[in-house]
Amino acid sequence: MGLRVFGVKNNLFFVFLSLFSLSLEFSKAQMVPAVFVFGDSQVDVGNNNYLPVSVAKADFPHNGIDFPTKKPTGRFCNGKNPADFLAEKVGLPSSPPYLSLLEKKDASYINGVSFASGGAGILNSTDQVLRQAIPLTKQVEYYLAVHQILVQQMGSSAAEKHFSKSLFAIIIGSNDLFDYFGSSDLRKKNTPQQFVDLMANALKQQLKRLYAFGARKFFVAGIGAIGCIPAERVKNKTHQCNEEGNFWSVKYNEGLKAMLKGLKSELQGISYSCFDTYSFIQGVIQNPSAYGFNEIKAACCGLGDLRAKVPCVPVSTYCSNRKDHVFWDLYHPTEATARIVVDTLFDGPSQYCVPMNVRQLVSA
Ligand SMILES: *[C@@H]1O[C@H](CO)[C@@H](O)[C@H](O)[C@H]1NC(C)=O
Ligand SMILES: *[C@@H]1O[C@H](CO)[C@@H](O)[C@H](O)[C@H]1NC(C)=O
Repeated sequence: MGLRVFGVKNNLFFVFLSLFSLSLEFSKAQMVPAVFVFGDSQVDVGNNNYLPVSVAKADFPHNGIDFPTKKPTGRFCNGKNPADFLAEKVGLPSSPPYLSLLEKKDASYINGVSFASGGAGILNSTDQVLRQAIPLTKQVEYYLAVHQILVQQMGSSAAEKHFSKSLFAIIIGSNDLFDYFGSSDLRKKNTPQQFVDLMANALKQQLKRLYAFGARKFFVAGIGAIGCIPAERVKNKTHQCNEEGNFWSVKYNEGLKAMLKGLKSELQGISYSCFDTYSFIQGVIQNPSAYGFNEIKAACCGLGDLRAKVPCVPVSTYCSNRKDHVFWDLYHPTEATARIVVDTLFDGPSQYCVPMNVRQLVSA
């Protein structure tokens, strides 16, 4: 009898012990309670599938061919995009698209949500007429709704703690520059310098709104070498980069870094990591073999010169060696590129990660 009681106690002890070590393991693997993603097609995980008239969609082949199911998901990529790899790094499933959760009665927002939308920009101009997208201001409004739900579920003090430890990842801005260079109206209204200043300032206002609703840890990506995407190279006879696009990407990134530095001194308790996407991608383009790439100019999926005359649509052809292409389609990087970008923004040096990398940001 005594022995049996002892046995039960012992079993319970082991149950406690294993629960304890299980939770230790979880807390070790999961570095943040949630990831909230804001941005454009580089990190859209399917929000635009829910926009009825948007032309910025990727819910058709050959997008997604490197997933086990080979099915398109709305990602503008052959497989996982940077949002997926970032989630993996912090030990969480990819944050689900916000618009997919609206249809679900039992939707969970606890581990984060993605508001990212193909075609989206910092300024509202990117949402107009042709490209229906969710501009950043609207993405932030959606976050406020999620904030309210979580406060109701968790109580305000637990929710505030939850948000303060969560990662807020913002990957946006390229579409604003594309719009600027494509619109004579925008060009008339602002010099390029005024325009990149407007962008940084509008982003600052949105970061302040997120701060007012609990955000404390921000990851913000700069703009990549937008002059070197296949869609730009194909316009040049010798397939060289568009220098003007690159120049203003650099200028915006400088403004972004200065803005974030200022923001940190204005808002108590924030920390951030800013990734210099432009410098990193230029490094890859200049020394592709060091990163395992062979093809830095042509898209993998598309038609015509550089497979960039026609986008990646079902009638397009695609390359078999996707791991050695930097670009998937005329605008977007491959899964292989997304992987090394996230490896670098997570653990990379201060040359690219200012003032710290994302591992340091989430560990602090
Ligand atoms: C974008 O539009 C929203 C609502 O229509 C407005 O509140 C916001 O100020 C606009 N943002 C910018 C940067 O123009
Ligand atoms: C091609 O790009 C190079 C480098 O940016 C530039 O000097 C040249 O003028 C461009 N050619 C055309 C036809 O646009």
